[in-house]
Amino acid sequence: MEKRQQLYEGKAKKVFATDDPDYLIVEYKDDATAFNGVKRGMIRGKGAINNRMSNRLMQKLEAAGIPTHFVRELSDRETLVKSVEIIPLEVIVRNTSAGSFSQRYGVAEGIDFESPTVELSYKNDALGDPLINTDSAAALKLASRTEIALIRQYALRIDRELRRFWRICGVKLVDFKLEFGRLPDGEIILADEISPDTCRLWDAATGEKLDKDRFRRDLGGVEDAYREILRRMESHDA
Ligand code: TMP
Repeated sequence: MEKRQQLYEGKAKKVFATDDPDYLIVEYKDDATAFNGVKRGMIRGKGAINNRMSNRLMQKLEAAGIPTHFVRELSDRETLVKSVEIIPLEVIVRNTSAGSFSQRYGVAEGIDFESPTVELSYKNDALGDPLINTDSAAALKLASRTEIALIRQYALRIDRELRRFWRICGVKLVDFKLEFGRLPDGEIILADEISPDTCRLWDAATGEKLDKDRFRRDLGGVEDAYREILRRMESHDA
């Protein structure tokens, strides 16, 4: 597959056309942003780590019966994916209180939930990605009610699969964000990435943060945390 013109540059990835309109190439960058682009920086080696991690996790999810955009890893930083129309919803699954959940509801971080929560945000930078419910998302025609119901089911299945995997690695999956897309025939598949940029991953024994919160909160050791989480993944990924 031939890499053609750049179609889009996001905060953490670039997207390129290929000679086949059904496929795109994503290229992961080391750039990092937080708080809707207000905080900017670079995490050396992040692009390669996120590419690898996201691809491995998507392959596991495919094996578990969840359709994803993953096709083939092309290089350290580049992956061939199916071209989809992105559904403008950020789908956030939480197993433990943290981040905006703790802020919004005034609770400490680290309280484990009896069952996971699924939150939807309207993916719209100008509005600051506001929370949205199914009725409003359907009213805005971001997705149909049937699509949203399926997305919620997928999100909970993905949570079960990822939690099981990370537990084996000695890592607690606190929360994560997913994005889904629509293929030309209407099929809904998992898109975007699953990485330390989009998940909260805590050491199961010590609670040490092994994810982008180290960057967001200026905790230091950002690169080391990304390397450590990749090492954990790969040592349990025969
Ligand atoms: P939050 O607690 O800030 O709402 O974040 C919940 C999860 O979603 C966390 O794992 C980080 C991830 N996330 C993204 O991937 N992109 C974003 O823009 C935001 C705000 C959060």
